[in-house]
Amino acid sequence: MSSTYTTFWSLLSTFYTLAKGTIVASTGISILLSGLLYFKQTSLIYPRDIPAGARTEVPTPDEFDITDWERVKLYTKDGETLNSYFVKARKKSGVTVLYMHGNAGNIGHRLPLAQVFSDQMGCNVFMLGYRGYGLSTGRPSEKGLNIDAQTALNFLLEHADSKDGKIFVYGQSLGGALAIQLVAKNQGKIHGLILENTFRSMRTLIPSAFPPAKYLARLCHQIWPSETTIPTIEQVPVLFLSGSKDELVPPEHMQTLYNVTVSPKIMRKFLNGGHNDTYAELGYFDAMLEFISQIKHGRPIAELRNDAVKQEKIPRQSGSSMTMGSAGSRKSVATL
Ligand SMILES: *[C@@H]1O[C@H](CO)[C@@H](O)[C@H](O)[C@H]1NC(C)=O
Ligand SMILES: *[C@@H]1O[C@H](CO)[C@@H](O)[C@H](O)[C@H]1NC(C)=O
Repeated sequence: MSSTYTTFWSLLSTFYTLAKGTIVASTGISILLSGLLYFKQTSLIYPRDIPAGARTEVPTPDEFDITDWERVKLYTKDGETLNSYFVKARKKSGVTVLYMHGNAGNIGHRLPLAQVFSDQMGCNVFMLGYRGYGLSTGRPSEKGLNIDAQTALNFLLEHADSKDGKIFVYGQSLGGALAIQLVAKNQGKIHGLILENTFRSMRTLIPSAFPPAKYLARLCHQIWPSETTIPTIEQVPVLFLSGSKDELVPPEHMQTLYNVTVSPKIMRKFLNGGHNDTYAELGYFDAMLEFISQIKHGRPIAELRNDAVKQEKIPRQSGSSMTMGSAGSRKSVATL
């Protein structure tokens, strides 16, 4: 942290120096931009108000014909209340998935995914409502979200429906970065890690995700150090689900994370998968099911037949890109 502050103050003093003399316009602008990035980065990194209404309208499992679920209010040690859903498997397999979504929207927008887990895969799924998102209290931050994830895992380790079974952690994008931190700290308690379209670290993501801020990545105080953390995971198998057409996180980030992983690992690439719709690619849920099933039955995870799948996209429902489209209509998934 201290080097971040140092950089900021030295930029600020440069600004004053420039202001006294001739201001080079472009430099001035980039300094202003960097100030903006520094102070506004939490709203850039955690756009919890997108899509409109995301803080007040959170669809419930009922709306997706899920009948067996409970609303869970998790109380964190630092005083936040996290509005979450625990969706139960229709046919129990003893597997529970802790699901952590990307940086926009809320858990309600991801319910079609929960439906696939519960109805078609036989998995319980816990949908964690991060602080500052949906109906949860507080403001998001790296430190806070890490507390939220740990609180959810502790809940599952004690809940009658999950404590005696196998727990998997599944994270998309920012949720993947959070999943890596959680698994690294709880290795004996988690049976598998599933990552979709996540990034090496926030700093390495900035040049492609926010091009105007390209030279200013050092000002980023939200670190999300996945690339240095994932090699510390030594026993928990990892499944990488990577959309080759990801327009937000360059797919090389997933390849780098895969390369530095020392645990048993599988890379599955979906050649037509974009950042937010890779789940709609054929074979997506089958890859997950095969991974979970191998671990559940104590088989060593094997490289899947081929690591690239080129398939037609399943047509999506119209509407916000945050809603998960027709993921729930995927019919060919077998149960565990
Ligand atoms: C990952 O490793 C492979 C094989 O060693 C190498 O060819 C590739 O360039 C690496 N990719 C990245 C993005 O690090
Ligand atoms: C995907 O989601 C991100 C936020 O997580 C958003 O900025 C982006 O516009 C979305 N992309 C598409 C293609 O919908």
